[in-house]
Amino acid sequence: MDSLAAVNWPAYETEALNAVGAALSEQELDEARVKYLGRKSELAQALRGVRDRESGILLNGIRSKLEAAVAARETELTRLANEHAAEAGVDVTIPGTPIGRGRLHLLTQIRREIEDIFLGLGYEVYEGAEVSTVWENFDALNADPAHPSRSKTDTFYIDDDTVLRTQTSPDQIRAMQAKTPPIYLVSPGRCYRRDTPDATHSPTFLQVECLAVDRGITLADLQGTVLKFFRTLFGAEREVRMRTSNFPFTEPSVEFDVTCFICGGRGCPVCKHSGWIEMGGAGWVDPNVFRNVGLDPSEWQGFAFGFGIERIAMLRHGLPDLRAFWENDLRVLGQF
Ligand code: PHE
Repeated sequence: MDSLAAVNWPAYETEALNAVGAALSEQELDEARVKYLGRKSELAQALRGVRDRESGILLNGIRSKLEAAVAARETELTRLANEHAAEAGVDVTIPGTPIGRGRLHLLTQIRREIEDIFLGLGYEVYEGAEVSTVWENFDALNADPAHPSRSKTDTFYIDDDTVLRTQTSPDQIRAMQAKTPPIYLVSPGRCYRRDTPDATHSPTFLQVECLAVDRGITLADLQGTVLKFFRTLFGAEREVRMRTSNFPFTEPSVEFDVTCFICGGRGCPVCKHSGWIEMGGAGWVDPNVFRNVGLDPSEWQGFAFGFGIERIAMLRHGLPDLRAFWENDLRVLGQF
């Protein structure tokens, strides 16, 4: 019992269990195991010297407890290591945070739809310019020099000769100056007028301009194109009617209506019970406009029409307020 007497075994056991429990890595655990259980440990040496059963039971009991503690600590350290790896993003099976999918703005969707219809008719999509000369936006379009729409209270002037375009019609002028006919183009874009925003007015809005210049085209081509366009956009049963109107750059000029695509023409609040919805303006390109861009009106004929994109979106989806398009409330925009 000499070897037993030299050591306080309950204290040895407590010290060893504490060291094992405090090990923070495989290496620390191994150091504790070597120190208290290894071949040169006091426990191993004592066990080698055991001669009596009582001491054997005591020391083997301590050894079993320590071995169990080392195994338990090992399992625990492995679990902690896996947990850290998962925290560092290693576990690819953990579900991610969902990210909301974006989508195109309703007005962009409709603009693209319109472009596709015209591309299908053999037209090109033309990109005009939001900044326009006074000449392109008014003079070349045959506008009356005294017309009130030219005033600084109606139009945004950048300087005396430059404005933010008030309509997409100046794109007709730019295109005819840049290209040689035949010309078949559609030009969607942003326009600006000095309007106070309310449910039906906005200082900025989107228009689409359509221009066809060729030899031997007639007003029937205009009617057929407008009809084809609205039937593709709003359904094959739609009809189009034209009423005489007045624009400086077209002669004759018309405004066109389409049979209501909500009630089919029977009459409802959207069409104000008339069965028809006003869509835009159109006409035969005025000879003065051709002369202004250096084209001979006896050689070339053409038609133009223009309409607003917001109006189409509002009517189609029953949106009561124009401001919804630029307030960017995702609860509204997310519905389309
Ligand atoms: N530019 C006109 C407007 O803003 C619409 C239009 C376009 C009329 C082309 C005739 C031809 O009201």
